Amino acid sequence: MVPHAYYRYFLWIAIAATFCLLAAEFTSLQRRQQNPAVDSASAGAPVENARLPPASSEILIPRQIWQIFFAPPDVKTLDKGSTYASDWISMAPGYLYTLVGDEDAAAFVDSSFASSRPDVAATFHALKNPGQKSDFLRYLLLWHRGGTYSDMDTRPLVPVEDWLLPPGKRREIGLVVGLEWDSARDGYYDENTRDVQFCQWTIAAAPGHPVLGRMVNHTIAALHDVARQQGRTLDQADFSNFQILNSTGPAAWTDVVFEEIRERDSRVKGLKDLTDLRSPRYFGDLVVLPVESFRAEFSDEWGLNGWRKDRRALVRHYYRGGWRTHD
Ligand SMILES: *[C@@H]1O[C@H](CO)[C@@H](O)[C@H](O)[C@H]1NC(C)=O
Ligand SMILES: *[C@@H]1O[C@H](CO)[C@@H](O)[C@H](O)[C@H]1NC(C)=O
Repeated sequence: MVPHAYYRYFLWIAIAATFCLLAAEFTSLQRRQQNPAVDSASAGAPVENARLPPASSEILIPRQIWQIFFAPPDVKTLDKGSTYASDWISMAPGYLYTLVGDEDAAAFVDSSFASSRPDVAATFHALKNPGQKSDFLRYLLLWHRGGTYSDMDTRPLVPVEDWLLPPGKRREIGLVVGLEWDSARDGYYDENTRDVQFCQWTIAAAPGHPVLGRMVNHTIAALHDVARQQGRTLDQADFSNFQILNSTGPAAWTDVVFEEIRERDSRVKGLKDLTDLRSPRYFGDLVVLPVESFRAEFSDEWGLNGWRKDRRALVRHYYRGGWRTHD
């Protein structure tokens, strides 16, 4: 593409973002007026290990879609096909949709955490890598406000309301996580690969969910550990690709989710006990979905041409996030 085509693309994104933000703000204003429980949940300080009042008496996870768009430094990673915002909007009728950009992110973090958790705000502002910022921000949004987060390079295949969960269960579910990698089904093991990994490109959570509270703390500690090892402050620290994955990314997320599962179910001793998952597995209010749910292309990767018919296939991931890699 010629440079001015990129420019047009940015303009398009800016217009879309502004429209979505205005629409979301307007709807949320309306909803807050109708429902004071939402107001107290979104304006107050995050409550840890205590469930905030649900936005609707029917389900714990609010009907809200979050996406994050931080302009990456290398504009070549963008192309017009890399966003499915309109699919998220059309697959989630009756939901609020919010696209969060750099300035919205900073404003959200300051208004939500600057006084109640200055360590959270300081950590967020010290991050330079947009991938790490986006990782940390999704945990903060879900912890404080709840809803469904999904990366810009994901496409929903079925309405979010239909996500597999039987109606009776839906009301009790506070955290939906999917496998990104299942060694028993992906078909190979090596010493560097974990037996399973949970993806964090798509997560749905109730506000104040304890796993998110843990993840926020884990991330802050892990980031500062890396900086301390280098004798630097966080804003000057250098992160390898592995250190990103292991501080804010899916490796860290896997550790935290797994810790919670192990505490809830004594039969689960190691990640291997979660392999070969074929259908949702429940651990109290936490549900783990099989690898094809948030990585719908899984069956196609194995030549099975299956995802169009597989009712477990919910979200397709296009792996276009070029900003994470450091190498
Ligand atoms: C997270 O850290 C804060 C501040 O250090 C602490 O008050 C809180 O109990 C911790 N929460 C969890 C879930 O560990
Ligand atoms: C990954 O992060 C955890 C949590 O901060 C840390 O304990 C561990 O040492 C890290 N792993 C490596 C290989 O650096």
